[in-house]
Amino acid sequence: MRQYRIRGGKRLSGELSIGGAKNSVLPILAAACLNESETIIHNCPRISDTLETIKILEGIGFRTEFLENTLKIYPAKDLSHEIPDECVKKMRSSILFMGALLAQTGKVNLALPGGCNLGERAINLHIRGLEAMGAKICEEEKKLFCKIGENGLNGAKIKLDFPSVGATENLLIAAVKAKGETVIENAAREPEISDLALFLKKLGAEIRGAGTGTIIINGTNKNFRKKIAHEIIPDRIVAGTYLVAAAMTTGDIKLTNVRPFELAPFTMYLSEMGCNLRAEENSVTLHAPKRLKAAGRIITKVHPGFLTDMQAQFVAALSIADKRSEITETIFEGRNSHVPELRKMGANIHLTADKQTFEIDGVERLRGANVAAHDLRCGAALVLAALSADGETIVQNSEFVERGYESIEKDLTSLGGDIKLEIV
Ligand code: UD1
Repeated sequence: MRQYRIRGGKRLSGELSIGGAKNSVLPILAAACLNESETIIHNCPRISDTLETIKILEGIGFRTEFLENTLKIYPAKDLSHEIPDECVKKMRSSILFMGALLAQTGKVNLALPGGCNLGERAINLHIRGLEAMGAKICEEEKKLFCKIGENGLNGAKIKLDFPSVGATENLLIAAVKAKGETVIENAAREPEISDLALFLKKLGAEIRGAGTGTIIINGTNKNFRKKIAHEIIPDRIVAGTYLVAAAMTTGDIKLTNVRPFELAPFTMYLSEMGCNLRAEENSVTLHAPKRLKAAGRIITKVHPGFLTDMQAQFVAALSIADKRSEITETIFEGRNSHVPELRKMGANIHLTADKQTFEIDGVERLRGANVAAHDLRCGAALVLAALSADGETIVQNSEFVERGYESIEKDLTSLGGDIKLEIV
């Protein structure tokens, strides 16, 4: 078992550089299947989700070399269309190989993706969109069997019922090799979509409108054979997590290699909570107050709204604010596994009957306890709570946190936190 042992009460201060974004690198690695030449990825985060995705790439025939934060992917001689089950079951983002391999080999078989348990509707938009482009998809015994029809993949006009990040990425990747024009309406607008589009354009794809609600792809139906290098954008959620860590510990930190405008959906709430923030071109500085102020009401929304991936960290921070705050989760059902764990540390959080709204009455201090991470951001929120708490906290199941943070214990130690990763 892997766990963090954290002694709380240390004030975080200092400077830290932020690495590449998990949610950007995962779709880009799937998109790399379209390249029949070498792909070089710089600023590639060494997180376990990247390592699992590399296993998929190697499992289908690519050779890779991962040195520090540079990943080299060498083209496959024979690309397999069978994605190894064990990787897919661990990670929801493995569904992105569906669009990539359909486009590249005309076929793909993969287990239904794992990761968070998000209910049955979780990939209907991916499937419907790919079918509109001519794919034939059937499900048998928790496995998806997909192939292209006789006429291959064709451009289509697809209107998403909801601007799903993953569905937008899957369709974007497939569309660059479909015949003719594809229009994705109600597309997700997250910065990671723009990064994926930039990567695909370097390969030779023709894409307009990425980052807006309408993306137009001029499918080329040709093979891409171009040695390309791409630098992954900084991880705005890792940056946000460390800003909240500083906010909760009366800290004073500077984060470099960030894009401050991408942090605005949540830094505006940190300002409201009494933090003093200063943004420069590629950095952001936060100076925390003695006691955080309540935030009123926060509602998670699609980009550029407040990120669902920062919800748990804000629940932790508002647990020690001066008054009552409220956060409503609207993107995922049941994203609340951090609540019972934070309660063990003395947080006063009430869940409404639909379990989507958290009413948080700030307490003066949290106290150390034995808690367990149940998913990635739940784990991050518990680490933050532990840094601010009195006494010692054990956060079990650190492997969830390691999916999305490259050595969180080293980063926080460098800022003065007392946190150790233990393998017991
Ligand atoms: C991505 C991010 C994740 C983030 C989420 C929302 C990656 C690797 N992960 O996940 O960190 O929390 O965006 O910002 O980038 N849905 C359907 N049908 C579908 C697809 C989605 O109903 O076909 C629903 C989901 O159940 C969920 C909501 O749409 O309730 C959001 O999902 P989506 O935007 O697709 O998130 P992911 O791409 O899985």
